Amino acid sequence: MDAEGDERFGLPAGTLAGQVAVVTGAARGIGRALALLLGRLGARVVIADLSPAGADVEASVRAEGGSAFFVPCDVADAEAVGRLAAETHRAFGPVDLLVNNAIHCPVVAVSEMDPATWDRVMAVNLRGTFLCARAFLPDLVERRGTMVNMVSADAMPHLSAYVASKQGIAGFSRSLAAEVGEQDVKVVALAPGMVDTPGLRVAARDLAPRIGMAPDELLAMAMPAPHAALAAVLLARGAASRYHGEQVDGYTVLEEAGYGHLARPSGPPAQPVHQDGPQAVRSDQPGVERGRKTAKGEGGAAPALLARRLHTALTATAQELERLPVFARTLARQGFKKQVGLGVKESVALAERLAEQMAASDSPPGNPDLHRWLTGLAGYFHGVPAQTARFTRDEAMLAEVGRTMAEREEIVRALQAAVERAGTRPM
Ligand SMILES: NC(=O)c1ccc[n+]([C@@H]2O[C@H](COP(=O)([O-])OP(=O)(O)OC[C@H]3O[C@@H](n4cnc5c(N)ncnc54)[C@H](O)[C@@H]3O)[C@@H](O)[C@H]2O)c1
Repeated sequence: MDAEGDERFGLPAGTLAGQVAVVTGAARGIGRALALLLGRLGARVVIADLSPAGADVEASVRAEGGSAFFVPCDVADAEAVGRLAAETHRAFGPVDLLVNNAIHCPVVAVSEMDPATWDRVMAVNLRGTFLCARAFLPDLVERRGTMVNMVSADAMPHLSAYVASKQGIAGFSRSLAAEVGEQDVKVVALAPGMVDTPGLRVAARDLAPRIGMAPDELLAMAMPAPHAALAAVLLARGAASRYHGEQVDGYTVLEEAGYGHLARPSGPPAQPVHQDGPQAVRSDQPGVERGRKTAKGEGGAAPALLARRLHTALTATAQELERLPVFARTLARQGFKKQVGLGVKESVALAERLAEQMAASDSPPGNPDLHRWLTGLAGYFHGVPAQTARFTRDEAMLAEVGRTMAEREEIVRALQAAVERAGTRPM
């Protein structure tokens, strides 16, 4: 048994015995990992893909003792999808699980995109999902099965057609869920998170330089494809009932099923990222500290008070990042670490220690690392408004972000000045 299979995830080989699964776009990436995992768990798998590499996946499933066959299929083509359904029924009978996973995902700025490119993205992603859903819905009703429609959590520059199609799939999934009812079919929109696949590698090559990153930095944040496949399997195994009609991210599915240790990317990138990602801050959100400027600004406050305010500001920052959609959250955390030299959580803890120490003596420790950290924090807060402006035109929000970040930067700079005055006493 492959190390990535049911042994690694602790699922018995017969977990899905007797079930029939159709996975579109299964020639590579998440679809391939899912086909392999389904095969190991005893499901009979139909690999539907445009690419002839689907035949290799079929061979791999069979080599591991599973049951699968490859159907060359363009999911955007209604006749091809009709043939897919007919061949599936002939070989395996009615379907228990449909995973609409195939995508077309060109990286193109809106200003450079020709309508044919836009239309093809919509045809493969959105129309393809509809065609396959329609073709297999009667089976899923008969078998009380599960439909997993792969979506994507966030807006991303240069991926407007892809993101628009994915938002469409999310809406389609919610509507279909309401139409069929949970008793018949569970319909879930799964946003797997960032996953290391050939598709992401191609997109990263084109996208990373456009958002100020190296491709490896982007890829370092991604989870392995088998982990995303496991999230889909967990839905098929019953978790879909809990999320019927909802969009759920892969991390949540894994965490709620007890696979929290798999749910986060393995570690920080070798080279931290250059961008902070969107950080939406609103004063009406809990945890956002409004500024408390004195006439003299923060420079007039006692160092211990500044340290406490910094702790509050960083706690609010951590909460704001936590509320971001999953992809933006990962980017934002990495951006913070790149800029500050310490992660968000570590920074909150450090600020807390600092506040405790300074409450005891009201004299800040002067330490070169502390100075670097504070410089990084000031730079981070300074840069957030410009980063946020790349993702939203909401002027009220941008104004609020600008105000909040200026206040936080001021706290940091005042504390930094106090640290400089204190000399070099180590922390
Ligand atoms: N990889 C990620 O980081 C990520 C993030 C969010 C969502 N997702 C979603 O997960 C799913 C899988 O992503 P991936 O990264 O593994 O993709 P990928 O690009 O690596 O693989 C996509 C597969 O779809 C196939 N395909 C393309 N056009 C097709 C068509 N017309 N008919 C049939 N098959 C077709 C390709 O041949 C390929 O095998 C997608 O729906 C994607 O939106 C992925």
